[in-house]
Amino acid sequence: MDNLLIRNARVPGHGPEPCDVALAGGRIVVIGESLSATGQTVIDAGGGMLTPSFVELHCHLDATLTAGSPRPNRTGTLWEGIALWSEIKPSLDEGSVYRRARKTLLWMLSHGVTHVRSHVDICDPSLIALRALLRLREELRGTIELQLVAFPQEGLFAYADGEALMQEAIHLGVDCLGGIPHYEMTREDGVRSVERVMDLAREYDRLVDIHCDEIDDEQSRFVEVMAAQTVRLGMGGRVTASHLTASHGYNGAYANKLLGLMKRAGLHVVTNPLDNSVLQGRFDGYPTRRGHARIKEMLQAGLNVACGHDSVMDPWYPMGDGDPLKAAFVLMHYAQIIGADERPWLFRMLTDMPAAAFGLERHAVAEGAPADLILWDVPSEDEALRRLPPRRAVIRNGAVVAERDGAAMRVLGETLDVSPPA
Ligand code: FE2
Repeated sequence: MDNLLIRNARVPGHGPEPCDVALAGGRIVVIGESLSATGQTVIDAGGGMLTPSFVELHCHLDATLTAGSPRPNRTGTLWEGIALWSEIKPSLDEGSVYRRARKTLLWMLSHGVTHVRSHVDICDPSLIALRALLRLREELRGTIELQLVAFPQEGLFAYADGEALMQEAIHLGVDCLGGIPHYEMTREDGVRSVERVMDLAREYDRLVDIHCDEIDDEQSRFVEVMAAQTVRLGMGGRVTASHLTASHGYNGAYANKLLGLMKRAGLHVVTNPLDNSVLQGRFDGYPTRRGHARIKEMLQAGLNVACGHDSVMDPWYPMGDGDPLKAAFVLMHYAQIIGADERPWLFRMLTDMPAAAFGLERHAVAEGAPADLILWDVPSEDEALRRLPPRRAVIRNGAVVAERDGAAMRVLGETLDVSPPA
Protein backbone atom coordinates (compact mmCIF):
# COMPACT_ATOMS: atom_id res chain seq x y z
CA MET A 1 0.00 0.00 0.00
CA ASP A 2 1.45 3.34 -1.08
CA ASN A 3 1.94 6.28 1.21
CA LEU A 4 0.71 9.27 -0.77
CA LEU A 5 0.99 12.99 -0.20
CA ILE A 6 -1.46 15.06 -2.23
CA ARG A 7 -0.37 18.68 -2.36
CA ASN A 8 -2.43 21.77 -3.25
CA ALA A 9 -5.83 20.13 -3.18
CA ARG A 10 -9.08 21.96 -2.56
CA VAL A 11 -11.23 20.06 -0.08
CA PRO A 12 -14.89 21.15 0.05
CA GLY A 13 -15.66 22.32 3.57
CA HIS A 14 -12.01 23.03 4.41
CA GLY A 15 -11.97 26.65 3.25
CA PRO A 16 -11.13 28.16 -0.13
CA GLU A 17 -7.35 27.70 -0.02
CA PRO A 18 -5.68 24.47 -1.17
CA CYS A 19 -4.17 22.19 1.45
CA ASP A 20 -2.05 19.05 1.66
CA VAL A 21 -3.50 15.63 2.45
CA ALA A 22 -1.27 12.78 3.63
CA LEU A 23 -2.40 9.16 3.26
CA ALA A 24 -0.92 6.12 4.99
CA GLY A 25 -2.14 2.65 5.86
CA GLY A 26 -5.21 3.12 3.68
CA ARG A 27 -6.38 6.15 5.66
CA ILE A 28 -6.14 9.91 5.64
CA VAL A 29 -3.64 10.69 8.39
CA VAL A 30 -3.11 14.46 8.20
CA ILE A 31 -4.75 17.41 6.45
CA GLY A 32 -2.69 20.60 6.73
CA GLU A 33 -0.55 23.22 5.05
CA SER A 34 2.93 22.65 3.61
CA LEU A 35 3.27 19.14 5.04
CA SER A 36 6.79 17.74 4.73
CA ALA A 37 7.22 14.79 2.41
CA THR A 38 8.97 11.88 4.09
CA GLY A 39 9.34 9.18 1.52
CA GLN A 40 5.82 9.35 0.17
CA THR A 41 4.82 9.51 -3.47
CA VAL A 42 3.80 13.14 -4.05
CA ILE A 43 0.93 14.21 -6.34
CA ASP A 44 0.51 17.93 -7.02
CA ALA A 45 -3.23 18.55 -7.34
CA GLY A 46 -2.59 22.04 -8.72
CA GLY A 47 -5.62 23.46 -6.91
CA GLY A 48 -7.93 20.68 -8.08
CA MET A 49 -10.61 19.33 -5.79
CA LEU A 50 -10.30 16.22 -3.62
CA THR A 51 -13.57 14.54 -2.67
CA PRO A 52 -14.66 11.24 -1.18
CA SER A 53 -15.14 8.48 -3.75
CA PHE A 54 -18.63 7.81 -5.13
CA VAL A 55 -20.88 5.11 -3.70
CA GLU A 56 -23.27 3.77 -6.37
CA LEU A 57 -26.28 2.51 -4.44
CA HIS A 58 -28.55 1.34 -7.25
CA CYS A 59 -27.72 -0.50 -10.45
CA HIS A 60 -28.50 -3.77 -12.26
CA LEU A 61 -25.25 -5.44 -13.29
CA ASP A 62 -26.94 -8.63 -14.50
CA ALA A 63 -28.67 -6.73 -17.33
CA THR A 64 -26.00 -4.14 -18.10
CA LEU A 65 -24.77 -3.80 -21.70
CA THR A 66 -27.60 -5.88 -23.16
CA ALA A 67 -29.34 -2.93 -24.88
CA GLY A 68 -30.30 -3.83 -28.44
CA SER A 69 -30.12 -7.56 -27.84
CA PRO A 70 -31.99 -9.48 -29.20
CA ARG A 71 -33.66 -6.27 -30.51
CA PRO A 72 -34.01 -2.68 -29.34
CA ASN A 73 -36.77 -1.45 -27.05
CA ARG A 74 -38.75 0.35 -29.76
CA THR A 75 -41.24 2.13 -27.50
CA GLY A 76 -38.79 2.90 -24.70
CA THR A 77 -41.39 1.77 -22.18
CA LEU A 78 -40.97 -0.15 -18.96
CA TRP A 79 -43.25 -2.92 -20.26
CA GLU A 80 -41.33 -3.53 -23.46
CA GLY A 81 -38.17 -3.52 -21.31
CA ILE A 82 -39.61 -6.20 -19.01
CA ALA A 83 -40.69 -8.30 -22.02
CA LEU A 84 -37.24 -7.98 -23.58
CA TRP A 85 -35.49 -8.97 -20.35
CA SER A 86 -37.72 -12.07 -20.16
CA GLU A 87 -36.49 -12.98 -23.65
CA ILE A 88 -32.85 -12.39 -22.73
CA LYS A 89 -32.89 -14.25 -19.40
CA PRO A 90 -33.07 -17.86 -20.68
CA SER A 91 -30.01 -17.26 -22.86
CA LEU A 92 -27.78 -15.85 -20.11
CA ASP A 93 -24.57 -17.67 -19.39
CA GLU A 94 -22.26 -17.11 -16.45
CA GLY A 95 -19.34 -15.97 -18.60
CA SER A 96 -21.26 -13.26 -20.46
CA VAL A 97 -22.83 -11.87 -17.27
CA TYR A 98 -19.38 -11.79 -15.66
CA ARG A 99 -17.77 -9.99 -18.63
CA ARG A 100 -20.52 -7.41 -19.06
CA ALA A 101 -20.71 -6.63 -15.34
CA ARG A 102 -16.93 -6.36 -15.05
CA LYS A 103 -16.77 -3.94 -17.96
CA THR A 104 -19.42 -1.69 -16.41
CA LEU A 105 -17.68 -1.87 -13.03
CA LEU A 106 -14.42 -0.69 -14.63
CA TRP A 107 -16.29 2.21 -16.22
CA MET A 108 -17.70 3.04 -12.79
CA LEU A 109 -14.26 2.83 -11.18
CA SER A 110 -12.89 5.21 -13.82
CA HIS A 111 -15.58 7.70 -12.74
CA GLY A 112 -14.59 7.39 -9.08
CA VAL A 113 -17.01 4.74 -7.85
CA THR A 114 -15.44 2.43 -5.25
CA HIS A 115 -18.57 0.88 -3.71
CA VAL A 116 -21.50 -0.54 -5.69
CA ARG A 117 -24.84 -2.09 -4.72
CA SER A 118 -26.36 -4.11 -7.55
CA HIS A 119 -29.74 -5.75 -7.70
CA VAL A 120 -29.69 -9.21 -9.30
CA ASP A 121 -32.81 -10.84 -10.71
CA ILE A 122 -33.37 -14.14 -8.90
CA CYS A 123 -36.47 -15.15 -10.91
CA ASP A 124 -34.38 -17.73 -12.72
CA PRO A 125 -34.21 -21.32 -11.46
CA SER A 126 -30.50 -21.56 -12.32
CA LEU A 127 -29.51 -18.28 -10.59
CA ILE A 128 -26.78 -17.98 -13.24
CA ALA A 129 -26.46 -14.20 -13.01
CA LEU A 130 -26.20 -14.32 -9.24
CA ARG A 131 -23.44 -16.94 -9.39
CA ALA A 132 -21.46 -14.82 -11.88
CA LEU A 133 -21.78 -11.69 -9.77
CA LEU A 134 -20.87 -13.50 -6.53
CA ARG A 135 -17.61 -14.53 -8.25
CA LEU A 136 -16.97 -10.96 -9.38
CA ARG A 137 -17.72 -9.65 -5.88
CA GLU A 138 -14.94 -11.79 -4.42
CA GLU A 139 -12.46 -11.04 -7.23
CA LEU A 140 -12.82 -7.27 -6.95
CA ARG A 141 -12.86 -7.10 -3.14
CA GLY A 142 -10.42 -4.44 -1.97
CA THR A 143 -10.77 -2.50 -5.23
CA ILE A 144 -14.52 -2.19 -5.69
CA GLU A 145 -16.78 -3.39 -2.88
CA LEU A 146 -19.87 -4.98 -4.36
CA GLN A 147 -23.10 -5.56 -2.43
CA LEU A 148 -25.58 -7.89 -4.14
CA VAL A 149 -29.35 -7.67 -3.65
CA ALA A 150 -31.55 -10.72 -4.28
CA PHE A 151 -34.17 -9.03 -6.46
CA PRO A 152 -37.32 -10.96 -7.46
CA GLN A 153 -37.97 -8.95 -10.65
CA GLU A 154 -41.15 -10.90 -11.45
CA GLY A 155 -42.45 -10.90 -7.87
CA LEU A 156 -41.70 -12.86 -4.72
CA PHE A 157 -45.17 -14.43 -4.88
CA ALA A 158 -46.24 -13.64 -8.46
CA TYR A 159 -43.34 -15.76 -9.76
CA ALA A 160 -43.60 -19.48 -9.07
CA ASP A 161 -40.82 -20.49 -6.64
CA GLY A 162 -39.90 -16.85 -5.99
CA GLU A 163 -39.69 -17.43 -2.25
CA ALA A 164 -37.64 -20.63 -2.62
CA LEU A 165 -35.21 -18.83 -4.95
CA MET A 166 -34.89 -16.02 -2.40
CA GLN A 167 -33.94 -18.61 0.24
CA GLU A 168 -31.39 -20.14 -2.13
CA ALA A 169 -29.91 -16.71 -2.86
CA ILE A 170 -29.56 -16.11 0.88
CA HIS A 171 -27.64 -19.36 1.26
CA LEU A 172 -25.42 -18.48 -1.71
CA GLY A 173 -24.42 -15.31 0.15
CA VAL A 174 -26.30 -12.19 -1.02
CA ASP A 175 -25.75 -9.11 1.12
CA CYS A 176 -29.19 -7.65 0.77
CA LEU A 177 -32.78 -8.78 0.19
CA GLY A 178 -35.04 -7.02 -2.29
CA GLY A 179 -38.63 -7.00 -3.44
CA ILE A 180 -41.10 -5.41 -5.84
CA PRO A 181 -44.42 -5.11 -3.95
CA HIS A 182 -46.17 -2.92 -6.56
CA TYR A 183 -45.66 -5.72 -9.13
CA GLU A 184 -47.25 -8.49 -7.02
CA MET A 185 -50.74 -9.63 -8.11
CA THR A 186 -52.67 -7.88 -5.34
CA ARG A 187 -52.15 -5.15 -2.77
CA GLU A 188 -52.32 -7.86 -0.10
CA ASP A 189 -49.57 -9.88 -1.79
CA GLY A 190 -47.47 -6.73 -1.98
CA VAL A 191 -47.82 -6.12 1.76
CA ARG A 192 -47.08 -9.77 2.48
CA SER A 193 -43.97 -9.65 0.26
CA VAL A 194 -42.54 -6.69 2.18
CA GLU A 195 -43.22 -8.44 5.48
CA ARG A 196 -41.69 -11.73 4.29
CA VAL A 197 -38.55 -10.08 2.88
CA MET A 198 -37.98 -8.10 6.05
CA ASP A 199 -38.55 -11.13 8.29
CA LEU A 200 -35.99 -13.08 6.25
CA ALA A 201 -33.53 -10.18 6.42
CA ARG A 202 -33.80 -10.07 10.17
CA GLU A 203 -33.53 -13.84 10.50
CA TYR A 204 -30.42 -14.04 8.30
CA ASP A 205 -28.90 -10.69 9.28
CA ARG A 206 -29.02 -9.06 5.82
CA LEU A 207 -29.71 -5.54 4.64
CA VAL A 208 -32.98 -4.71 2.83
CA ASP A 209 -33.36 -2.73 -0.42
CA ILE A 210 -36.78 -2.93 -2.04
CA HIS A 211 -37.93 -1.52 -5.40
CA CYS A 212 -40.92 0.27 -3.94
CA ASP A 213 -43.80 2.13 -5.57
CA GLU A 214 -41.99 2.44 -8.92
CA ILE A 215 -45.25 3.20 -10.66
CA ASP A 216 -47.37 6.29 -11.36
CA ASP A 217 -50.32 4.91 -9.37
CA GLU A 218 -50.89 7.29 -6.46
CA GLN A 219 -52.62 4.39 -4.67
CA SER A 220 -49.32 2.49 -4.51
CA ARG A 221 -48.34 2.96 -0.87
CA PHE A 222 -45.95 0.18 0.04
CA VAL A 223 -43.25 2.43 1.44
CA GLU A 224 -45.46 3.01 4.47
CA VAL A 225 -45.42 -0.76 5.02
CA MET A 226 -41.62 -0.78 4.76
CA ALA A 227 -41.35 2.07 7.25
CA ALA A 228 -43.80 0.50 9.71
CA GLN A 229 -42.02 -2.87 9.57
CA THR A 230 -38.66 -1.15 10.05
CA VAL A 231 -40.01 0.44 13.24
CA ARG A 232 -41.64 -2.79 14.48
CA LEU A 233 -38.60 -4.96 13.79
CA GLY A 234 -36.06 -2.39 15.02
CA MET A 235 -34.22 -2.42 11.68
CA GLY A 236 -33.61 1.33 11.37
CA GLY A 237 -30.48 2.10 9.33
CA ARG A 238 -30.54 -1.28 7.55
CA VAL A 239 -33.44 -0.67 5.17
CA THR A 240 -33.45 1.19 1.83
CA ALA A 241 -36.48 2.09 -0.29
CA SER A 242 -35.63 2.49 -3.99
CA HIS A 243 -37.44 4.64 -6.59
CA LEU A 244 -40.67 5.73 -4.77
CA THR A 245 -41.94 7.41 -7.94
CA ALA A 246 -45.61 7.05 -6.90
CA SER A 247 -44.89 9.68 -4.26
CA HIS A 248 -45.11 12.41 -6.90
CA GLY A 249 -48.85 11.66 -7.07
CA TYR A 250 -49.59 11.59 -3.32
CA ASN A 251 -51.77 14.28 -1.83
CA GLY A 252 -50.06 16.72 0.49
CA ALA A 253 -51.63 15.46 3.71
CA TYR A 254 -50.61 11.87 3.06
CA ALA A 255 -47.12 12.85 1.89
CA ASN A 256 -46.60 14.84 5.08
CA LYS A 257 -47.65 11.91 7.27
CA LEU A 258 -45.48 9.53 5.24
CA LEU A 259 -42.33 11.64 5.49
CA GLY A 260 -42.71 11.71 9.28
CA LEU A 261 -43.03 7.92 9.39
CA MET A 262 -40.04 7.41 7.07
CA LYS A 263 -37.93 9.70 9.26
CA ARG A 264 -39.01 7.89 12.39
CA ALA A 265 -38.07 4.56 10.79
CA GLY A 266 -34.65 5.80 9.65
CA LEU A 267 -35.32 4.61 6.08
CA HIS A 268 -32.72 5.28 3.43
CA VAL A 269 -34.02 6.35 0.02
CA VAL A 270 -32.56 6.02 -3.49
CA THR A 271 -33.82 8.08 -6.39
CA ASN A 272 -32.88 7.11 -9.95
CA PRO A 273 -33.47 10.12 -12.19
CA LEU A 274 -32.05 8.71 -15.42
CA ASP A 275 -34.34 5.69 -15.81
CA ASN A 276 -37.40 7.11 -14.13
CA SER A 277 -37.42 10.34 -16.12
CA VAL A 278 -38.01 8.31 -19.28
CA LEU A 279 -39.99 5.31 -18.00
CA GLN A 280 -42.75 6.95 -15.95
CA GLY A 281 -45.59 9.30 -16.86
CA ARG A 282 -46.57 7.13 -19.83
CA PHE A 283 -50.28 7.18 -18.97
CA ASP A 284 -50.43 10.94 -18.48
CA GLY A 285 -51.81 13.42 -20.95
CA TYR A 286 -50.43 16.92 -20.69
CA PRO A 287 -48.95 18.12 -18.43
CA THR A 288 -46.91 14.91 -18.25
CA ARG A 289 -45.35 14.02 -14.92
CA ARG A 290 -41.84 12.68 -14.69
CA GLY A 291 -41.06 9.67 -12.51
CA HIS A 292 -39.83 11.59 -9.60
CA ALA A 293 -39.94 11.05 -5.86
CA ARG A 294 -40.34 14.04 -3.53
CA ILE A 295 -36.62 14.37 -3.15
CA LYS A 296 -36.30 17.94 -1.99
CA GLU A 297 -38.97 17.46 0.66
CA MET A 298 -37.25 14.27 1.84
CA LEU A 299 -33.91 16.05 2.12
CA GLN A 300 -35.53 18.95 3.95
CA ALA A 301 -37.13 16.45 6.35
CA GLY A 302 -33.66 15.07 7.16
CA LEU A 303 -33.97 11.73 5.39
CA ASN A 304 -30.85 10.05 4.03
CA VAL A 305 -31.26 10.15 0.24
CA ALA A 306 -28.91 8.72 -2.41
CA CYS A 307 -28.88 9.35 -6.15
CA GLY A 308 -28.42 6.16 -8.18
CA HIS A 309 -27.47 5.63 -11.81
CA ASP A 310 -29.70 2.52 -12.19
CA SER A 311 -29.43 1.05 -15.72
CA VAL A 312 -26.36 1.21 -17.94
CA MET A 313 -27.36 0.29 -21.50
CA ASP A 314 -30.01 -2.34 -20.83
CA PRO A 315 -33.60 -3.05 -22.00
CA TRP A 316 -34.95 -0.23 -19.83
CA TYR A 317 -32.42 2.50 -20.54
CA PRO A 318 -30.15 2.33 -23.58
CA MET A 319 -27.95 5.22 -22.43
CA GLY A 320 -25.52 5.76 -19.56
CA ASP A 321 -21.89 5.06 -18.87
CA GLY A 322 -21.95 4.42 -15.13
CA ASP A 323 -20.97 7.97 -14.16
CA PRO A 324 -22.97 8.97 -11.06
CA LEU A 325 -22.19 12.63 -11.72
CA LYS A 326 -24.43 12.54 -14.80
CA ALA A 327 -27.33 11.20 -12.72
CA ALA A 328 -26.80 14.04 -10.23
CA PHE A 329 -26.68 16.55 -13.10
CA VAL A 330 -30.10 15.36 -14.29
CA LEU A 331 -31.45 15.33 -10.73
CA MET A 332 -30.30 18.92 -10.23
CA HIS A 333 -32.74 19.98 -12.97
CA TYR A 334 -35.43 17.45 -12.39
CA ALA A 335 -35.73 18.06 -8.62
CA GLN A 336 -34.89 21.77 -8.91
CA ILE A 337 -31.94 21.37 -6.55
CA ILE A 338 -30.35 24.52 -7.87
CA GLY A 339 -30.35 27.04 -5.01
CA ALA A 340 -26.91 27.89 -3.65
CA ASP A 341 -27.85 26.36 -0.29
CA GLU A 342 -29.27 23.25 -1.97
CA ARG A 343 -26.58 22.29 -4.50
CA PRO A 344 -24.22 20.79 -1.85
CA TRP A 345 -26.81 18.01 -1.43
CA LEU A 346 -25.95 16.70 -4.90
CA PHE A 347 -22.40 15.57 -4.07
CA ARG A 348 -23.57 14.30 -0.69
CA MET A 349 -26.16 12.13 -2.51
CA LEU A 350 -23.25 10.44 -4.31
CA THR A 351 -20.86 10.16 -1.34
CA ASP A 352 -21.63 10.17 2.38
CA MET A 353 -25.39 9.61 2.08
CA PRO A 354 -25.19 6.38 0.02
CA ALA A 355 -22.20 5.39 2.17
CA ALA A 356 -24.44 5.45 5.25
CA ALA A 357 -26.94 3.14 3.55
CA PHE A 358 -24.10 0.89 2.37
CA GLY A 359 -22.99 0.55 5.99
CA LEU A 360 -19.65 2.32 5.64
CA GLU A 361 -17.98 4.12 8.48
CA ARG A 362 -17.17 7.81 7.98
CA HIS A 363 -16.93 8.52 4.21
CA ALA A 364 -15.35 11.96 4.09
CA VAL A 365 -12.10 13.80 3.41
CA ALA A 366 -11.20 13.92 7.09
CA GLU A 367 -8.31 12.78 9.26
CA GLY A 368 -8.75 9.16 10.25
CA ALA A 369 -11.25 8.38 7.48
CA PRO A 370 -10.58 5.66 4.88
CA ALA A 371 -8.58 7.01 1.93
CA ASP A 372 -11.21 6.35 -0.77
CA LEU A 373 -10.99 9.51 -2.85
CA ILE A 374 -11.39 11.24 -6.21
CA LEU A 375 -8.89 13.82 -7.44
CA TRP A 376 -10.32 16.34 -9.92
CA ASP A 377 -8.85 18.96 -12.23
CA VAL A 378 -11.71 21.33 -11.42
CA PRO A 379 -11.63 23.28 -8.14
CA SER A 380 -15.20 22.87 -6.85
CA GLU A 381 -18.34 20.73 -6.80
CA ASP A 382 -20.18 23.36 -8.84
CA GLU A 383 -17.52 23.23 -11.55
CA ALA A 384 -17.68 19.44 -11.58
CA LEU A 385 -21.47 19.54 -12.01
CA ARG A 386 -21.25 22.24 -14.66
CA ARG A 387 -18.57 20.57 -16.78
CA LEU A 388 -18.90 16.84 -15.96
CA PRO A 389 -15.15 16.38 -16.49
CA PRO A 390 -13.28 13.07 -16.56
CA ARG A 391 -11.64 12.34 -13.23
CA ARG A 392 -7.91 12.89 -12.78
CA ALA A 393 -7.34 9.98 -10.37
CA VAL A 394 -9.27 7.57 -8.20
CA ILE A 395 -7.78 6.36 -4.92
CA ARG A 396 -8.89 3.25 -3.03
CA ASN A 397 -7.46 2.25 0.34
CA GLY A 398 -4.79 4.91 -0.15
CA ALA A 399 -3.58 3.66 -3.55
CA VAL A 400 -4.25 5.03 -7.04
CA VAL A 401 -6.52 2.51 -8.85
CA ALA A 402 -7.53 4.64 -11.85
CA GLU A 403 -5.65 7.49 -13.45
CA ARG A 404 -6.20 9.69 -16.46
CA ASP A 405 -3.68 9.40 -19.23
CA GLY A 406 -4.43 11.94 -21.95
CA ALA A 407 -7.84 11.09 -23.39
CA ALA A 408 -7.89 7.71 -21.67
CA MET A 409 -8.23 6.32 -18.16
CA ARG A 410 -5.91 3.58 -16.96
CA VAL A 411 -8.03 1.33 -14.76
CA LEU A 412 -6.61 -1.84 -13.22
CA GLY A 413 -4.14 -2.16 -16.08
CA GLU A 414 -6.77 -1.58 -18.79
CA THR A 415 -7.18 1.52 -20.93
CA LEU A 416 -10.64 3.06 -21.26
CA ASP A 417 -11.35 5.86 -23.71
CA VAL A 418 -12.94 8.80 -21.89
CA SER A 419 -12.41 11.43 -24.56
CA PRO A 420 -15.43 13.52 -25.51
CA PRO A 421 -17.02 12.61 -28.84
CA ALA A 422 -15.70 14.41 -31.92
FE1 FE2 B 1 -33.84 -0.61 -10.27
